[in-house]
Amino acid sequence: MPDPQLVLAARVSGALAAAFGPSYADADPVIRPSQFADLQANVALPLAKKLGRKPREVAAEIVERLDVADLTAGVEVSGPGFINITLRDEWIAGQAQQVLEDDRLAVPPVEAPQRVVVEYSSPNVAKEMHVGHLRTTIVGDAIARILEFLGHEVIRDNHVGDWGTPFGMLIEHLLDLGEDAAARDDASVSDLTAFYQAARAKFDGDEGFADRSRRRVVALQAGDPETLRLWQILVDVSKRYFNTVYERLGITLTDDHIKGESFYNDLLAPTAEELEAKGIGVISDGALCAFPPGFTGREGEPLPVIIRKSDGGYNYSTSDLATVRYRVDTEHVNRMIYVVGAPQSLHFQMVFAVARMAGWLDGEVVAEHAEIGNVLGTDGKILRTRAGGTVKLVELLDEAVERAGVEYDKIQRDEAFDEATRAAIVEAVGMGAVKYADLSVARDSEYIFDFDRMIAFRGNTGPYLQYAVARIRSIFRKGGLAPEDATGPIVVGHEAERALALHLLSFGAALEQAAANAEPHRLASYIFELASAYTTFHENCPVLKAPDEETKASRLALAAATLRTLVTGLGLLGVPTPERM
Ligand code: ARG
Repeated sequence: MPDPQLVLAARVSGALAAAFGPSYADADPVIRPSQFADLQANVALPLAKKLGRKPREVAAEIVERLDVADLTAGVEVSGPGFINITLRDEWIAGQAQQVLEDDRLAVPPVEAPQRVVVEYSSPNVAKEMHVGHLRTTIVGDAIARILEFLGHEVIRDNHVGDWGTPFGMLIEHLLDLGEDAAARDDASVSDLTAFYQAARAKFDGDEGFADRSRRRVVALQAGDPETLRLWQILVDVSKRYFNTVYERLGITLTDDHIKGESFYNDLLAPTAEELEAKGIGVISDGALCAFPPGFTGREGEPLPVIIRKSDGGYNYSTSDLATVRYRVDTEHVNRMIYVVGAPQSLHFQMVFAVARMAGWLDGEVVAEHAEIGNVLGTDGKILRTRAGGTVKLVELLDEAVERAGVEYDKIQRDEAFDEATRAAIVEAVGMGAVKYADLSVARDSEYIFDFDRMIAFRGNTGPYLQYAVARIRSIFRKGGLAPEDATGPIVVGHEAERALALHLLSFGAALEQAAANAEPHRLASYIFELASAYTTFHENCPVLKAPDEETKASRLALAAATLRTLVTGLGLLGVPTPERM
């Protein structure tokens, strides 16, 4: 990988080993961007402390052994012992040329690919998806794509909430309405929120209905065929709805990725038995509970994870324990990423702790909760409609597209598009805006759903980046040249060329950062910085009207490499990039 920070880190490690012995090769070389040069290595400071020597002396010793003649014209020790490095323009240009020429933009697949479950979206059957699900769907999809690009084997997993006590009342309500109501695309069932609320109201107000519902849950859990058939109707209606949302957003989930809570039903009893046999589950007040160390309540009392209730039933925790066990025993994964709302953090910490006690999770197999922050309205409260109801996703997406159209029509452009082309562009802008807004902030921070901000064609937004891509493409169209035909060679002269070329070298590093902690916003920041570097270049360095042919060839090559990096990067975020805008 050509990332200068990584290249320099390897060289500094070599120098450390040469100067102080092989055991020092693993010390963090502390490479940082520098104010005075391109990069600095700060390792001399902590190392001097450890060795009980003067930092500048240690720095000088490192520099003596540092093999960087190809990278830099000069190394300088400054301040208390910083090692400053200014990269050679030729080195930068040569590396950028490799990015240009490589199919994978000089990002090699990882050496040790892992098998990773990425669990995301996970909406509930017979309930409306809400903006929280929207966010886990968008963020999870980007995580899956990024890991796959890096060469990992990804198992996408949609852990749909399709099981449990509410299904008793939902099935009974369905029977009351008449089951063909579900087959028609009739408001009573396809309007999931209304359907759920009506069932709930009857359950709370009608004793007979509540009784029927309870019996129905028992029948469902016992696998009664007629009950399962009715349950399947509800599941199918919901799946159709989820799929419309996924298709519209360009999410890579299909029915094949659904492994809902019901999937684990048969594994609940064996999971509980294993935990009991291992002595991790103990009977407390009639229930089988595990008490993972370190989890205590207000009074310091140990907090239980309930594995089996006193009535013999299982719950959400059991289901998640069975899921971990299945992923380890049957799917043989190395890593599980749970892209789920932050409010479930304690639940997952405790489930993972019990799974560690059971020996399912260890250093080789890790589980992590990729927390998703709440989505708030512009009033700072949980997003609601003006009437106070849950915001329907489909309506939200329609509004995004409508507003995208308004903003889009304000752009000055030299070509006019027919209505169908315009509609396709505006749809892509609306979806891109919503998706990028979710992806560009740290996934665990709360985030304000604000159409005005996300649909702007300026700033760190989807539309800005889509427009940047379209602008680069239009240069090639005007020049009568395909981007693939821009082969350089890249030479770095102007400061803006240098900055752009340098930035092109860090795509792989950005992807690795995004993959390490399942944080797509690391990639989003990189893409935005690259687009900004391109904008500066574009404003300062004429491409088609470059002063001479060599410069023109180099600038076209820089534009082509930028284009491909932006399109690939946005593709990994799942943000569409229309050809023209
Ligand atoms: N269906 C749940 C919800 O909507 C999310 C499921 C999260 N995943 C899990 N393994 N528990 O809140």
